[in-house]
Amino acid sequence: MTSTNEIRRSFLDYFSRNGHAATPSAPLVPYNDPTLMFVNAGMVPFKNVFTGLETPSSPRAASAQKCVRAGGKHNDLDNVGYTARHHTFFEMLGNFSFGDYFKEGAILHAWTLLTKEWGLPKERLTVTVYHTDDEAHALWRKIADLPDARIIRIPTSDNFWSMGDTGPCGPCSEIFYDHGEHIPGGPPGSADEDGDRFVEIWNLVFMQYEQQADGSRRDLPKPSIDTGMGIERIAAVLQGVHDNYDTDTFRALIAASEALTGVPARGEHAASHRVIADHLRSTSFLMADGVLPSNEGRGYVLRRIMRRAMRHAHLLGAREPLMHRLVGALVTEMGAAYPELARGRALIEEVLEREETQFRRTLDKGLRLLDEATAALGAGAELDGEIAFRLYDTYGFPYDLTEDALRPRGIAVDRAGFEAAMARQKAAARAAWKGSGEAASGEVWFDIAEREGATEFTGYAATSGEGRVVAIVKDGAEVTSAVAGEEVAILTNQTPFYGESGGQTGDVGTITSLAGLRALVTDTSKPLGRLHAHHARIEAGSVKVGDTVELKVDAERRDRIRANHSATHLVHAALRNRLGAHVTQKGSLVAEDRLRFDFSHPAALTPEDIAAIEAEVNAEIRANVPVTTRLMTPEDAVAAGALALFGEKYGDEVRVLAMGRPGKDGRNYSVELCGGTHVRATGDIGLFRIVSESAVSSGVRRIEAMTGEGARQWLVAREEALKAAASTIRATPEEVPARLAALLEERKRLEKELAEARKALALGGGAGTGKANAADETIAGVTFSGQVLEGLDPKELRPLLDAAKQRMGSGVAVIIAVSEGKASIGVGVTDDLTARFSAVDLVRAGVAVLGGKGGGGRPDMAQGGGPDASKAAEALAAVKSALAAQPAM
Ligand code: ALA
Repeated sequence: MTSTNEIRRSFLDYFSRNGHAATPSAPLVPYNDPTLMFVNAGMVPFKNVFTGLETPSSPRAASAQKCVRAGGKHNDLDNVGYTARHHTFFEMLGNFSFGDYFKEGAILHAWTLLTKEWGLPKERLTVTVYHTDDEAHALWRKIADLPDARIIRIPTSDNFWSMGDTGPCGPCSEIFYDHGEHIPGGPPGSADEDGDRFVEIWNLVFMQYEQQADGSRRDLPKPSIDTGMGIERIAAVLQGVHDNYDTDTFRALIAASEALTGVPARGEHAASHRVIADHLRSTSFLMADGVLPSNEGRGYVLRRIMRRAMRHAHLLGAREPLMHRLVGALVTEMGAAYPELARGRALIEEVLEREETQFRRTLDKGLRLLDEATAALGAGAELDGEIAFRLYDTYGFPYDLTEDALRPRGIAVDRAGFEAAMARQKAAARAAWKGSGEAASGEVWFDIAEREGATEFTGYAATSGEGRVVAIVKDGAEVTSAVAGEEVAILTNQTPFYGESGGQTGDVGTITSLAGLRALVTDTSKPLGRLHAHHARIEAGSVKVGDTVELKVDAERRDRIRANHSATHLVHAALRNRLGAHVTQKGSLVAEDRLRFDFSHPAALTPEDIAAIEAEVNAEIRANVPVTTRLMTPEDAVAAGALALFGEKYGDEVRVLAMGRPGKDGRNYSVELCGGTHVRATGDIGLFRIVSESAVSSGVRRIEAMTGEGARQWLVAREEALKAAASTIRATPEEVPARLAALLEERKRLEKELAEARKALALGGGAGTGKANAADETIAGVTFSGQVLEGLDPKELRPLLDAAKQRMGSGVAVIIAVSEGKASIGVGVTDDLTARFSAVDLVRAGVAVLGGKGGGGRPDMAQGGGPDASKAAEALAAVKSALAAQPAM
C-alpha cells in the first residue's frame, strides 16, 4: 500500500524531476489576500504570480498545500461526516506553470503521472472539458487516446474554476476515477453524477483571466496552468478504497477516537468519528498557523468547527474532553510533513481542552432545550429560528451545529427567523449603547461595526498585508471615497495596524494601492474597542470603499514600541519583587520613545531600589527567553497566576503573555493579560534604563524608562554632559566626583574667610582691640561711627553693631550692608544714650532714603532696609542729619 506521506513525496518528486520548483505549503491564513478567509486551493499563494504582480523564481512550481474550505466561496463544512470525500481540511497537490507550458503540458503531465508513474488503469479514467474547449478535447484524444464518450463536454460552471469572487480563473478539465459498478452513481454530466461511483480526482485549470470586482474579466498576462488534486482522494484510489475516510491517515485518527471512546467506528456512529477526525485536522492546522478561537472572523469559524466536533464527541458518550487527546495521533501521522503541527502541539492541546471544557458547561442544557423544542417535529419540519437563536446566544451553539444536530432527523432550521432574532438583539444593543451617553459622534463607528463586524487584527504576526476598504469616515460621517489632500479615517476588513489601546500607542505607516493611492497613517485608534481606524492624510491618488489596499506599518517604530511594552511587563514584575505584592499597575503609556508606568506604592523609591529594579529587568533581557502568548478565559488566566488589571473589562478570551525565565514554580518571570504587541524574545529589548521616578498622587508613583537604542542614546547624552563637566574643571570623568567635592569644600572655606575679612573691615581693621576708629566723628556731642559695606550679609549687622558699641563705649553706630542690589541698614545706640536718641527713629530716616518702609527694633538696636542700594551714602547722610537735629544735652 502506498501511504499518504509517500504519495505526497512521489508527487513532488515527479514534478521536481520535470523542472518544477517544489514549494512548501503556505500558512492557511492568507494575510496577503483580503478577499479570502483561508487558503482554499494550491494556487492561492501564487495568485500574484498569475496576475503578473510578482515574478516567480521559477516558471514551474509544484506544492502540497494545506487548504481549509469552511466559510467563503468554497465551504464544505455542512457535508463533512456524511459523504466519502468532503473535508474542512485537506491537502491539495498541484503543479503550476506561470506562462510556461499550457494545456498540452498540463494534460501530458497529469496523464503520465497517473497512468505511468502510479499505474492507474486507463479504463478507470474519464475526463471532462469545458463545452467550448475543442482544443482540450483534441489534446485528450491525442495524449490519452480516450474515446469521445469518455471526454465529456460540460457546459456549466463546474468546468470553469475561479478562486473567489475576484482573482485568477479559467476553464478547466477534470479527471474522474471510476470506483466501479458496485457503487451507485453515473459519469459527470449524467443525471446521477452526484453518486459516489465517479470521483473527481484532479482538476486542471487553464488559467486565462482575472475576475474583477465589477464583474468584468481581464486577460492574464500569459496563459498559465493551475492544477489541484486532493491528496485524500488520490490516496483512496491508490490504496484501493472508495472512501477517503478509509485511507491510512484517517484510519489512524479514527482508530484513536475509537480507542478513547470505546465506540466502534462502523455503524450508527460512523459520521461522528469522521466529523471528529476531519475537524481535528482543520482545527489543529488552523491553530498551528496562528488562528485562535474567538467570536468573530476566522476565530469564529475555528470555534464553529471545534464545537461541531465537540458535540459529536458528546454523541459518542465521551465523558471528558476528547479532542485534545487526539492531537498526538495527528502529529504522528502528519507532523513530519508539517513540522508546525509538532511545534504547536502544546498550544493546540491546551486550547482544545479549554474550549471543550467550556462548551460542555452549556452543551447538555442546550441539547435538552433542542430536544424539547423538536419533540413534536417530524422529518420535513423546521425548527423555530428564535430557538436556534437562543441556542446560539445562551448556549453557544453555532447555527450550523444546530443544523447538524437536526440533520439526521430530517429537520431543518428557520434561518430567516434566526437572522431576524439576531437583528433584534443588535438593535437592542444599539439602543442601550445610545442610552449610555457615549459621544453621539461615535454613532458612525457603531454603524460600521454592526455592518462589517470587528476589524481583524493581523499585526501580531505581520507588519504589512492587504485589506479591503470597508468604510471611510470624514468629519464624523461616512463617505464613499476620498482624494488627495483629504484627512480621513480608513477602515479595512483586516489590518496589521495596532489601534491605540491598553496604554500602547497606535501604529503609523502607509496605505497604498496599485491604483496610485498613497496615504500617510498618522495614528490608529480603536473605536468601540473592535474597529481599527487608520487616521490618514491622502497624499496622492484616491481611495474608495471596496478597494484593495496595501497596509504597511512603520515597522521600525513598532519594534521600539514592542520593546517598551515588553519592558513594561518586566518592570512591573521587578517592582513587585523588590517592593512587595501591594504594587499594582495604576496606568501605563507605551510610546515609541519611552514607557511610563504608574503603580501603587506609598513612598519614593530609593536609589538602591531603582538600581536593583533596573538590574533585575536587564538580567531578564539578557536571558533572552522567548515570549509566549496563550489564549485563555480571564478566570483561567488569573488562576494561572497572570497579573490582571482590577476593574478592566476583558472579553471572553484574553491573551496571556509570559516572559522572562521560569521560576521554581515553573511560572515565567512575568505573566500578564495583555492585548498589546511584544518582542519575540526578551533579548530584543536590548537595554532598559529608568530615567525618572516621581509622585503622581498620594500613594501612586511613576517611573519613566527607556529601552534599546533610545536608552543607549540617553546614556550617551549623559556621558557627553559628564565629559563636558570634566573638561571644565580639568579633570577626567572618573575624577569628577572627588574633584567637585574638593571644589565645593574649598568654596565653603573661602566664603568663611571672606566673611571674616569683611567683619574685620567693619570693626575698623582690629576687631576687639578697643582702639578708637579713625572714621569716628562727633555729632551732636556724641561719638558716631558710620559705614557702608558692600557684600555684607545683613545677618552680620547685629553682631557688628554690638562690636562697634562695645568699642566706642558710648556712641551711635550705623552700618549699611549692600548686597544683591538691596541695602539693609542697622543702627546701634549705647545704653547711656538711649534716653536721647532712639535707634528706631534713626533707622527710619535711613530706610526712607533707601526707598523702603518702616524699620524697627528697640531704642538700642534697630534694623530696616530698602531696594535702592545706590542711595546707601545718602541714607548714611540722612541718619547723620537726623542725629544732628537732636537737641544737645
Ligand atoms: N485551483 C483548482 C481547484 O482548486 C485546481 O480545483
